[in-house]
Formats: sequence, C-alpha cells, structure tokens
Amino acid sequence: MSTDFSHLMSRRGFVLAVAGAAASPLLPPARSRASAIDERRITVAPGRARISGPDGPQTPVWAYGGTVPGPTLHLRQGEPARITVENGLDEDTTVHWHGIRLQNAMDGVPGLTQPPIKSGESFVYEFTPPDAGTFWYHPHADSLVQLGRGLAGALIVEEAEPVAVDRDLLWLLQDWRLAADAQIAPGLGSAMDAAMSGRVGNVITINGTVPADQGVRAGERVRLRLANASLARMMALRFEGHRPVVVAIDGQPCEPHEPDGGRLVLAPAMRIDVVIDMQGDPGSHHQVIDDFYDGLAYTLTALAYDNAPPLRTHSLDAPLGLPHNPLPQPDIAERQEIVLQGGMMGGGKLAGVGGMMGMGMMGMNGGAAWAINGMSMTGDGHEGMTPQFTLKRGVTCHLTMRNVTAWWHPMHVHGFSLSVISRNGAPMPHRQWQDTVLLAPKDVIECAFVADNPGLWMLHCHVADHQMAGLMTVFRVT
Ligand code: C2O
Ligand code: CU
Ligand code: CU
Repeated sequence: MSTDFSHLMSRRGFVLAVAGAAASPLLPPARSRASAIDERRITVAPGRARISGPDGPQTPVWAYGGTVPGPTLHLRQGEPARITVENGLDEDTTVHWHGIRLQNAMDGVPGLTQPPIKSGESFVYEFTPPDAGTFWYHPHADSLVQLGRGLAGALIVEEAEPVAVDRDLLWLLQDWRLAADAQIAPGLGSAMDAAMSGRVGNVITINGTVPADQGVRAGERVRLRLANASLARMMALRFEGHRPVVVAIDGQPCEPHEPDGGRLVLAPAMRIDVVIDMQGDPGSHHQVIDDFYDGLAYTLTALAYDNAPPLRTHSLDAPLGLPHNPLPQPDIAERQEIVLQGGMMGGGKLAGVGGMMGMGMMGMNGGAAWAINGMSMTGDGHEGMTPQFTLKRGVTCHLTMRNVTAWWHPMHVHGFSLSVISRNGAPMPHRQWQDTVLLAPKDVIECAFVADNPGLWMLHCHVADHQMAGLMTVFRVT
C-alpha cells in the first residue's frame, strides 16, 4: 500500500471554502467576526527550561514556541483554526491534536496521514474542533524521544457560553527522568522500560516547573483542568480536605460525580476537568497527594489559602454539568475485539505472544515487546500499516479491549471518543466518553463509537515505550 498525499491541498481549500460560506450570513455580527480563521504559528526547536524554578539549573529540552510545555492554544468550538508548525529540530516531526475529532489528514501521524515535517520545513494544520473541552498536542514522530524531551502543550476548546466558575486553571503534568546535573537522563528507549512499566521519571512538573504551593481564595469555585502529558507515569491525585467533582473526562462532559475514594486517576494522555469549591479556612494549607503506586505516595503540591475572607459564604449554586458535545450516539453495533499481549513477567520472560513476532529482541532497536492480536506494530506510525479491521462509515463499532498482560495500559484511539460501557462486566456509571481508557492488568473494557469519520486511525497504548515496542494498531473507516 502506498500513501498518496496529493489530495491534501485541494481538500484543505475545500474545507476553508465551506467554513467561510457557513460563517457569513447566518450569524450575528459579533459572532461572525469571531469566526474568522484563528491563525497560529508554532516553532518546534531545541531550547532550555528551568524545571526547578527561575533560579534552578537549565535543562536542555525540545520546545514548542520556546516554552515547556508549549503555549496553551485556546480555540473556539465549531470555529476553524489554522496552525502552522515549523520544524526547527534536526529530525522529522509532526503534531497530533490529541482527542480532537478532526479530518484524518490533520491527525499528525507520519506516513499514515501526512508526510513527516522535515527539518526546516513546515506544515499547515487546519481543523474545526467540534467539541469543547480539554485536549492537548504532542509529536507523533520519534514519540518517545520528542515527548520525553518536553514537546507537549494544552489545547483548550472553549464552550460557546462561559462556564460559571471564578477561575479556570490548567495543570499540565509532566514527568521527567533527570540526572543530578538536571540533564535529561540517557536511556530513552531502554528495553527494560519498554517491556515493563515504561520510562517513569523522578521529577514531576506542573505547567513546566516543579510546583510550589498553589494560591487559592476561600469560597471560590475553580475549574481545574488536569492533563497528564507524561511518557509513562500514572497518577492518582487526592486533594486533602476537598471534594473535587469530575465534570469532564478526556474533554467530554460526564455526569458530575465525586471520584471513587476521592482519587483522580490520570494515566498518560488522560485529562480530567474537576470543579472544586475552595471550602478551606483562610490561611489554611492542604496537600495534593499522588498515591498511584503502592508505597510511593508523594506530595505533588498544596493548596495554600490566602488570608482574605471567603469570597462567598455558601458555595455557588450554579449547576456543575457542562453542556454536551455533539457526539454521535452508538446504535446497533458491529463487534471487534483487541487483545493486549506481551510484556515482562516474573523470570524475565515475555508473556502472551508465544514468540510469534521475533520477541527475542524485545524492546531493542525497534524490536517488539508487546502485541495486539498477535501483531506487533512498532514505532510511531508509518506508511503501509495493515489495518487490524475495517469499518463501514456510519456503523457503530462495539469494541472489546482485553488486557492479558501483567501491566497497566492507557489505550488511546485517534479521531473518536469512545462511549465506555463496562469494565470487567460492571457497567460504567456517569456516562463517560473517553479517548484514552486505562486498563489494569487483566481488565476487560467494553466501549462503543460511531465510525463516522473516514480514514486510517491509530489505536495504541499511550505509555510511549509500549507504543514504540508494539502496543499499537490501526483500523480503517471507509
Ligand atoms: Cu496522544 Cu497517538 O496519541
Ligand atoms: Cu490521539
Ligand atoms: Cu501500555
């Protein structure tokens, strides 16, 4: 199979023409002015970051727009955006707009949906985000290295009407493995990481720096957008003395609910929007703890109340639910199943793949440590990947994901949001739609989506080392 990109220019012209036509006569003047195409330019280049704060040592990183994380892009729901990405690295890159339901040619998978952006070249991404919510962007070329060197940024699609909160905050979380001299530790792509938990680091940042206390005001209502842009670190955040209410997962609104045990579980690539009423006393201090890994709990940061009197005596009684996004409702479905296989078991053996795929070289030099349905696709995506299955446009796909490994996997689908139906047979509460679903060892997840968007779409684990080492596949919608 060869991949032909010659349609790109004409297709892009078409999209713009349609968007322009839709914008003018129907909308009131204020809106149509805002409907002009939102133009951005982002350069990808080596840079330096002070991860431990303004007086700390410099860490050489790769950066979008010179900062780590990259600039937060604010787009508007249903309004076209045009983002030019210039590649100032010495290697190919692409940008993937994680979680955005966009046309396949803008999905950023090198070889599969676009030619890679060569060093010194640029690519124009154009899409109209259909859904409001918290999304993010990252490279899809040399993913482990490029994400590991800091390339990630938030993409916030604003609701049409502002949500009733006092402040809208973002915590973009990144995990770094730094050496004593603040350099990024070598060994990105080690076979051991690849066949086990992935590269979990030793320094966690919020919005690019090791967090100090977060200042809050008594009585305020905060919308906090949490996004885990780590290579491999899972997190489970608890806000001591507070009761965060989950209002969206992976950008998609859900029924507002308090999470089980007050723990917000965020695997790599996941986002959770919470609303928190700051009900602590003026001057008080409350820890935010990540206790995902047994015995390795640590304090991520703390909420530090200023001494001002409460902003209000009773918490705001505005409803917590966000307006729904225009997601197509799953219907009578066609069934597909993927089985996640591989990884290290006790005794240094790889499990579940039966040595079919040349597992001897596990994780090394692009070798495989994992497989999906017995097939290991390694790397970032490339030309000529054989789809695992093909769906006719418009059908509902009922997808079963079965994890037969001993490891956790946040499975991510490009181009769609999945309606998550059940975990291990138990129905999922709260009407959750996710683009990244975390499977614990031995978990079975049932989900569904309407295959309304044609193209070749990736489905992979978002632990970067796992993706690179074979936990990846592709399906086609015709
Ligand atoms: Cu954010 Cu293919 O992934
Ligand atoms: Cu994605
Ligand atoms: Cu995985």
